[in-house]
Amino acid sequence: MLRLLLLLFASCTLGTGENLREKAVEIMTTTPVIDGHNDLPWQLLKQFNNRLSEVDLCKLNNTHTNIPKLKAGHVGGQFWAAYVPCDTQNKDAVKRTLEQIDVIWRMCAKYPEVFTCAKSSSDVKQAFQEKKVASLIGVEGGHSIDSSLATLRIMYDLGVRYMTLTHSCNVPWVDNWRVDTGEEVALSDGLSSFGQKVVLEMNRLGMIIDLAHVSVKTMKDTLNISRAPVIFSHSSAYAICPHRRNVPDNVLRLVKEKKGVVMVNFYNDYVSCNPKATLSQVADHFDYIKKVAGYEAVGFGGDYDGVSRVPEGLEDVSKYPDLTAELLKRKWTEDEVKAALALNLLRVFQEVEKELLQWKKAAEFPPPGVKNPFSEGEEQLEQYISR
Ligand SMILES: *[C@@H]1O[C@H](CO)[C@@H](O)[C@H](O)[C@H]1NC(C)=O
Ligand SMILES: *[C@@H]1O[C@H](CO)[C@@H](O)[C@H](O)[C@H]1NC(C)=O
Ligand SMILES: [Zn+2]
Repeated sequence: MLRLLLLLFASCTLGTGENLREKAVEIMTTTPVIDGHNDLPWQLLKQFNNRLSEVDLCKLNNTHTNIPKLKAGHVGGQFWAAYVPCDTQNKDAVKRTLEQIDVIWRMCAKYPEVFTCAKSSSDVKQAFQEKKVASLIGVEGGHSIDSSLATLRIMYDLGVRYMTLTHSCNVPWVDNWRVDTGEEVALSDGLSSFGQKVVLEMNRLGMIIDLAHVSVKTMKDTLNISRAPVIFSHSSAYAICPHRRNVPDNVLRLVKEKKGVVMVNFYNDYVSCNPKATLSQVADHFDYIKKVAGYEAVGFGGDYDGVSRVPEGLEDVSKYPDLTAELLKRKWTEDEVKAALALNLLRVFQEVEKELLQWKKAAEFPPPGVKNPFSEGEEQLEQYISR
C-alpha cells in the first residue's frame, strides 16, 4: 500500500520543473551537449593577448565560459571558434587565424584532465566516455584562408574540423548574409566557381562546411553541390525571428533533405529580434526547426563569449540542462533530446568523415610512400571533382 502511494506520488510529481531538470541531467550524463560555436578563444586574445599563463580557466569569472560552468552545463564537446575579424582580410588574417588555432591547442593541453583535444567523431565519443570536454576547432570565415586551397589543407592538418564559409563580410569567392540586408553588394552570386572548389575540397578533406553567416544564395548553392551534410554552427529560425543571420524555411527543408544540422544560436537579437530574450523563446526555435526539418536537424550553437546579450535563463554555459528540461517539458522524447544534444552533430561528422574515407578508398589514397594523406594537393582535388 505504501509502495502504491509512493508510486502515485511519483507519477503525480512527474513533470514538475525539478523532476524535469533531474531527468535532463540524467540524460546529459551519458549524452552531453556538443555545442557548435563558442568564442572563448577570442576572449583569451582580447583579455590576455593569448598569454595563457595569466589565465586560470577554473576561476575566470567575466566570461560565459569557464571550467566549472562547462562541467555544470554537461558540455561534452565544444567547437571553439578560431575567429579573426573581417578587417584582417587581405592583411594578416592567415597569421592571426594560426594564432587562434594555437591558443585553442594550448588551452586544451593546459587542462588535460578537463579537455580531450579532438580531431574526429571517435575522439568525441572517447571524450564522452572519459567525462571530458572534446575540444574541437572551427575557423569562422573564409577570409582566414586568403583564397588559398593550400592554406585550407594545412588548416585541416592543424585540426580544423569546420570552416564557416564567411563571417560578416564577402570573401572573393562567396557572399555573406549582409548582401541580403542590402548592406553589401553580392560579389559571387552565392558561391563563385572557385567557391565551389573550396566546398568540394572541404568534402574531400573531411572538413565540415558551416553555413552560419552566409547569404541565402550561398546556403542554397552549397546545399546543392556539397557531397556531405552541412551544418549551421550558430544560426536560428528566420520564421521565428526574421533576422538575416537566421535560416529561412526553404533552406531548412533543404537541410532536412541533405541530413544536416541547424545549431540554434542563443544571441538575443537572433532569438527574439529584440535586445531581450528568454530561454523559452530559444526553445521556440528548437520546436520550430523540429517542426519544419525534423528533430534530426536540430542542435545547440550558443555563441557564448561571442555576443554581448544572452537570454534570461541561459546566462552562461552552465545552463544547457535548463534548456534540455524545457524541451522535455515540451514533450520532446528522450531520443529526440539526445539527437539534438549530440547525436545529430555526431552523425554529420561521421558522414563527412565517410566521404573522405570513401574517396581515399576509391582513389587508393594516399599513393604509396605518401605519409600525410590529407595535404596532397591540387591533382587529387581535380580527380575528386571529376569523380
Ligand atoms: C573575479 O576574478 C578576479 C580575478 O581573479 C577576482 O579579483 C575577483 O574577486 C573575482 N570576482 C568575483 C565576483 O568572484
Ligand atoms: C545544382 O548543381 C548542379 C551541378 O552540380 C547544377 O547543374 C544545378 O543547376 C544546380 N541546381 C540549383 C538549383 O542550383
Ligand atoms: Zn558568428
